[in-house]
Amino acid sequence: MTIATSPLSHVLPLGTLVSQHGHLEIGGCDVLELAREFGTPAYVVSEDDLRARARMFVEELAARHREFDVLFASKAFPCTAVYRVLGEEGLACDVASGGELALALRGGFDPARIYFHGNAKSEAELQEALSAGVGHVVLDSFDDFARLERMAAERGRRQEVLIRVTPGVAGATHDAMSTGQADSKFGFSVPDARAAIARLARAPHLELVGLHFHIGSQLLELAPFREAVRAVRALGDFPVINVGGGLGVAYTSEQHAPGIAEYVDALVSTVHDELGADKRLLLEPGRALVANSTVTLYTVQTVKRNVSTWVAVDGGMSDNLRPMLYGARYEAILAERPLAAAGERCQLVGKHCESGDVIIRDVWLPEPEVGEVIVTPATGAYGYSLANNYNGVPRPPVIFCREGSAREVVRRERYEDLMSRDVDPARP
Ligand code: LLP
Repeated sequence: MTIATSPLSHVLPLGTLVSQHGHLEIGGCDVLELAREFGTPAYVVSEDDLRARARMFVEELAARHREFDVLFASKAFPCTAVYRVLGEEGLACDVASGGELALALRGGFDPARIYFHGNAKSEAELQEALSAGVGHVVLDSFDDFARLERMAAERGRRQEVLIRVTPGVAGATHDAMSTGQADSKFGFSVPDARAAIARLARAPHLELVGLHFHIGSQLLELAPFREAVRAVRALGDFPVINVGGGLGVAYTSEQHAPGIAEYVDALVSTVHDELGADKRLLLEPGRALVANSTVTLYTVQTVKRNVSTWVAVDGGMSDNLRPMLYGARYEAILAERPLAAAGERCQLVGKHCESGDVIIRDVWLPEPEVGEVIVTPATGAYGYSLANNYNGVPRPPVIFCREGSAREVVRRERYEDLMSRDVDPARP
């Protein structure tokens, strides 16, 4: 049975169903059985959803524009299995640290198709990038520029670079996710970019191929992208334009985000109008590729009724920091009775020792009971990547589901993992 009757259908992974037993079914797998087999909390990914969204980006671009690449902004879900799937779908990728570079390489990415970002890249990270042979480094400051120029010269090679420009355009989003405004730690201001471009013309070991901007994340309006393209147009004509990521997604039944086709259409026509159809257009989606592919499973541990009804589960701010960091809103659904009518206003809370550990405030639920499996959709982006061990809680596994089979691609952490970096575990 389809889940289309649920107001949550558009936030759940593509192909989510209600099984013949009336349970939630993701990637053909009964979510209750997944909870039994792998335990909770757990991140459950529909592999077909991941692949479908990657294909949508590629197909929509291919239909409208000649030269392009879609870069997986891997900070959104830096798990080697995710890199592998998106690489198989033909995407390139961006990394923002040496660690993400190591993961991308392990996930099978051709180094030539990796873009190395970062506003504070260390000497060691740049050495790692050069040794790996990354295709492009995105310069973020004059210090970055000087360091890379020296290092490329020492290796006697010429490195292709982009310049990250801060176009002075703020996307309408949470302050912590807005990066395009002039007062930002990221990128070169437009006048500084002009100076950097002039210096690059005289840098024998660096080759400037184009400009990059990223104005912010979880953007639900597309107009600021045009403003940003106009702002960087003044810097000159380059073969490559990288418009960053930022396309927002729906987390709740009321939210609506532009679709991938609408977004690609807007970006391509902006670039055609403002820069011409001959540019190599790079997109860097993170959230829009991975957020809705994944749900988190929790088990209700206790239900407490005082002034409010507190439904407490076995995870929380260790597996999803977004509600606490950004006031992000999620929905919840019961795995065993996904279509049950919501009867009670609840506070869905985690197990951590903080009152702020609230996963969803004031969420209407069908009186969840202790032991029930509760599912929060749209946790694929910046859930796994922001996960932590607060209160010594082991981080959850990642389970890929496809056509009725489930495979664990990241195992649950064990207590030993919490001690694995102790230098002498026997003598603390
Ligand atoms: N490119 C660059 C250079 C970026 O800095 C980012 C995200 C992206 C692409 C991908 O953006 P996306 O398509 O995912 O919006 N932790 C926050 C989001 C921080 C985004 C950081 N940069 C959150 O959980 O919402």
